[in-house]
Amino acid sequence: MRIFLDTADSEEIRQAVRWGVCDGVTTNPSLFAKVSDRAGSYKERVQEIAAIVDGPISAECVSRGADELVAEAREIASWHPNVVVKIPIDGAGLEAISRVSGEGIRVNTTLIFSTNQALLAASAGAAYVSPFIGRLDDIGQDGVSLVAEIVEMLDRYHSPAQVIAASVRHVGHVSACAAVGAHIATLPFKVLQAMLQHPLTDKGIASFLADWDRAQAQRRERAESAAGR
Ligand code: G3P
Repeated sequence: MRIFLDTADSEEIRQAVRWGVCDGVTTNPSLFAKVSDRAGSYKERVQEIAAIVDGPISAECVSRGADELVAEAREIASWHPNVVVKIPIDGAGLEAISRVSGEGIRVNTTLIFSTNQALLAASAGAAYVSPFIGRLDDIGQDGVSLVAEIVEMLDRYHSPAQVIAASVRHVGHVSACAAVGAHIATLPFKVLQAMLQHPLTDKGIASFLADWDRAQAQRRERAESAAGR
């Protein structure tokens, strides 16, 4: 499973790239709003991210209406060759996905909450479908099960569309999505950081370092007593 970062914060992205675990980035208007105190338009922010990460960078349309979405998708796709255009799934979105995918623009269909929505998006030509698993969990449904169903459905029909597990809230979501074969999970930076953590790792490092220091002290003592003889 490839790992994308779900953020518009370039510092978080730089850290994930230094760790060697950032295969791409997804953004949306809400994530852009979180960093809107920093200089630059959405376009400039996306271009800055594209200069940091050599992988797909999703940027979202905010227009309503198919013609408006198509125009906006063409504009967003022109920002950088790695840009993938995010379009929410509804009637206008589906028409726009079909039209711009036919022009070679890669689309990430967002706000997917059912297998049928994913089927329609993939049929219209979307390169990616993004089920929002945390938001389904929030209403008492099982987001990871939806990822599993969509992966199985796309595999069965040999669809080239890839599943991006989105709205990931915790490390359990990540391992569960990997277990059911999600192609990609897009993670908030805090979830990526949490994946690194285990108390036994911290305890193990502390005990290795303490043993090392003790061994060095014993070596020094032996050397000093040998020199004293
Ligand atoms: O990738 C979609 C994500 O940004 C939404 O996450 O936590 O607002 O449901 P959340």
